[in-house]
Amino acid sequence: MFTKAIVRTPSKSIVDGITSANLGKPVYEKALAQHADYVEALIECGLDVTILAAEEDYPDACFVEDVALMTPHCAIITNPGAESRKGETQSMIATVEDFYDRVEFIEAPGTVEAGDIMMVGEHYYIGLSDRTNGIGAMQMINYLEKHGMSGSTVNMSEMLHLKTGLSYLENNHLLATGEFVSKPEFEKYDMLEIPSEEEYAANSVWVNDTVLTPKGFPQAKAIIEKTGYKIREIDVSEFQKLDGGLSCLSLRF
Ligand code: GLY
Repeated sequence: MFTKAIVRTPSKSIVDGITSANLGKPVYEKALAQHADYVEALIECGLDVTILAAEEDYPDACFVEDVALMTPHCAIITNPGAESRKGETQSMIATVEDFYDRVEFIEAPGTVEAGDIMMVGEHYYIGLSDRTNGIGAMQMINYLEKHGMSGSTVNMSEMLHLKTGLSYLENNHLLATGEFVSKPEFEKYDMLEIPSEEEYAANSVWVNDTVLTPKGFPQAKAIIEKTGYKIREIDVSEFQKLDGGLSCLSLRF
């Protein structure tokens, strides 16, 4: 069960966020409204939500998931692989230290964005992406082991982050699309395959037996409904324009 979440209000500079999506620029006012509904959904799931102020210097800073990994035993501040995002960690440190006594740090030349990390109980899968390198992943695994957990790396080549195409929905349910569907390390899970035309919805989030899923993906919704969880749809079209998924918008712990 999760009890808390941290989010960051989108900044006006969100229009300058990194993107490969070709969906146009996000509309700031619409992003704000969608973000407010996202916060409401987290509250509906029973979470205490800490809302951090917008950071105009960092257009992608609302994607807070990338800058920290919050585990039950420690928090790890990452070192984002995207140059324009490295500074996002600075203001997150004090917030994380409000919640955790044990805080570790990924150090250069290691890079990690925690959108590349999927938690399954006490084990953490770490995608080796353009944003997370092998040195960063090894630092992360060492910290996880130091605090009684474990980690392993996943080779990947098609997606921005591991969780762009993969979401663990607890009770052995694994939502997957594209290259992740056939990976041997995920064979032991009950695979819920999301078709490529709805791949964006492979990034959905389990929060206390509700699955938050992006609005507008009916096939994915029908597939997730098979789990028996309650489903809460959220329109996140403005964040999709920046390659950002639902999970990217919060730290849940
Ligand atoms: N726009 C989100 C990212 O590229 O990290």
